[in-house]
Amino acid sequence: MKALVIINFKNYKEALGSRALALAKQLSKVRLNGYKIVIAPSLLTLREISKKTKITVFAQHADPVGIGAHTGSISLDELKLSGVKGVILNHSEHKIPLAQIQETISLCKQKKMVVVVCSGKLSEMKKIAAFHPEYIAYEPRELIGGDLSVTQAKPDLIVKAVESVREISRHTKVLCGAGIHSKEDLGQALLLGTSGVLIGHAVPKSKNPRKFLESMLL
Ligand code: G3P
Repeated sequence: MKALVIINFKNYKEALGSRALALAKQLSKVRLNGYKIVIAPSLLTLREISKKTKITVFAQHADPVGIGAHTGSISLDELKLSGVKGVILNHSEHKIPLAQIQETISLCKQKKMVVVVCSGKLSEMKKIAAFHPEYIAYEPRELIGGDLSVTQAKPDLIVKAVESVREISRHTKVLCGAGIHSKEDLGQALLLGTSGVLIGHAVPKSKNPRKFLESMLL
């Protein structure tokens, strides 16, 4: 099983508008070294990216709706038609109620889309595990956007998260994120039992995102 590295473009200025496609094109050339790379560009840029590159694209959020009268919602069907393969849900910058998480996971399963549900708390992760998503990502809110990585700050909680989720849902894989910015962070995340990481600011904000990511995957 290849370890997963998700690059969340958020709404960083380096990854918006025409820069999003340029960044995605750079990242699509990264030497993978056995890793699986996914990007999560802004919702307004993901269609163009998935049509014009071969890189796997996830959405940063989706709503539990298909096609129809759903003004302002992000439809899973439209995402799928746009070439998007999966969705991030409940990111700490876009929290949603538990019932909505459950509904969206079950729709994603029907539509064969991958779901990565984020959470910064073990108690919430356990509740989410009962819905059996493919991935749950442990991301402590207070470390997001900083340079102290979750693997350095909370290794014991990562191990606990992996164990607790496994007890409830054997097939759900655990990722971690927050402050991940080096190959040591990535290696440590895997040693602690996760199946990969989410990376936010470190890649889009680096001088040479392609080289930077490659150096993490060595
Ligand atoms: O989704 C990834 C994320 O929230 C982590 O962000 O900037 O701490 O790597 P960052």
